[in-house]
Amino acid sequence: MVTQSRVKEHIETVTTINTDPADRSLRVEQVKLSLLAKRYGTPLYVYSYARLIENYRRIRDAFAAVNPLIAFSMKCNSNAAILRALINEGTGLDIVSGGELARGLATGADPAKIIFAGVGKTREEIVAALRAGIRAFNVESEPEADAIGAVAARLRRPAPIAIRVNPDVDAATHHYITTGRKENKFGIPFDKVRRLFRKLARTRGLRLVGLHCHIGSQILKPDGYIKALGRMAELLARLRADGHAIDLLNLGGGFGIAYEEGQEPMDMKALAAALVPELRKLGVRVIFEPGRSIAGPAGFLLTRVEYVKEGAVKNFAIVDGAMNDLIRPSLYSAFHRILPVEARRGRVRTYDVVGPICESGDFLGKDRQLPLLRAGDLLVVCDAGAYGMAMASNYNSRPRAAEVLVRGGRHHLIRRREKVEDLVAPEAIPAFLNGTGR
Ligand code: LLP
Repeated sequence: MVTQSRVKEHIETVTTINTDPADRSLRVEQVKLSLLAKRYGTPLYVYSYARLIENYRRIRDAFAAVNPLIAFSMKCNSNAAILRALINEGTGLDIVSGGELARGLATGADPAKIIFAGVGKTREEIVAALRAGIRAFNVESEPEADAIGAVAARLRRPAPIAIRVNPDVDAATHHYITTGRKENKFGIPFDKVRRLFRKLARTRGLRLVGLHCHIGSQILKPDGYIKALGRMAELLARLRADGHAIDLLNLGGGFGIAYEEGQEPMDMKALAAALVPELRKLGVRVIFEPGRSIAGPAGFLLTRVEYVKEGAVKNFAIVDGAMNDLIRPSLYSAFHRILPVEARRGRVRTYDVVGPICESGDFLGKDRQLPLLRAGDLLVVCDAGAYGMAMASNYNSRPRAAEVLVRGGRHHLIRRREKVEDLVAPEAIPAFLNGTGR
């Protein structure tokens, strides 16, 4: 259970969310969260530029010896400013749709650093990616490879493809986000890969350049990666012996972060120490596709208490942020730390922090010890930078939150708050319903 002193101890150790020495209220970098709430309203996503960049560099530096292509998995956060910040650092992008391709290119991504994954690429998406000149398609099935080959042959642009292998490694994570087991829908079964290479090597339009695997998400220990790399190295050797020239090895993303107190994030140095010696031997360009570990800890959801309801068995803090803003707690029973923005001494009480949406599944946190709350108090939900805004919806006709990027003492609006007009703009009422036509 989180005591106030432990909360304090914890936030002191986090570089990007810290207490203002003057009044002990929380800031992101040097900007007070209370100021941001006043200026931009709540619920509000707040990102720390310093933390975002630091998170990326930690991965880059750990693996510097193999100079990997780090393709940011933009599904976790596709805000243009976040993408530009990372692209400026030299990252590539891991994309899963034509929409992500368009956003990435519009933000200035280098197509030669774009990897296109996803189990159901459409013909239109394949055409767009080939025209853009992306680095590689991650291919998940034989019919998909055939489809890519056909499009590529028609366009006379050979398609570079990496086969996504299912290494049958258990990454020991939430069952919704484990992907490397035999029973998952992802990838080609390990034993079928050689046969598929043999067939695809003869397919017009395809260039077989690599192998890909991704064993899951929110993985906290190196073991799964070590096993997966072992499997991939074995396969690579066999494929090379079969005469295939493979020069990309993509080990996916999935590095875990410390959502809970006492949890340790993936130790990138330890992971690199375990993988680099083997990777150096392989003579391939190494690719990683991290998302959460870069954007997650850099983002916060700021929300205001609307009402406090002291029930018979439970106390509820009803806040203005909801499952439409951050669905992870509702969808995966995910835990996000929730901290009070203003320091307050004295008694604590246990609250369920819930949103205003008409579903009992609408909560941000359960059984949280917080100082006695009053309407108007601000709370901040930590580690919300990945799969937060990216999974936000307009459920209950709630306009999506604004997003702000903090850098040092400055703050920049990077997405304005939606208006109800934005929600209804794409809709149309047929004339017959207005009584003005059929
Ligand atoms: N590569 C592939 C092939 C993936 O499927 C994913 C995530 C990534 C890379 C990036 O994984 P990361 O480094 O972010 O863990 N919405 C869920 C997570 C879904 C992950 C989907 N795939 C959540 O909120 O936990």
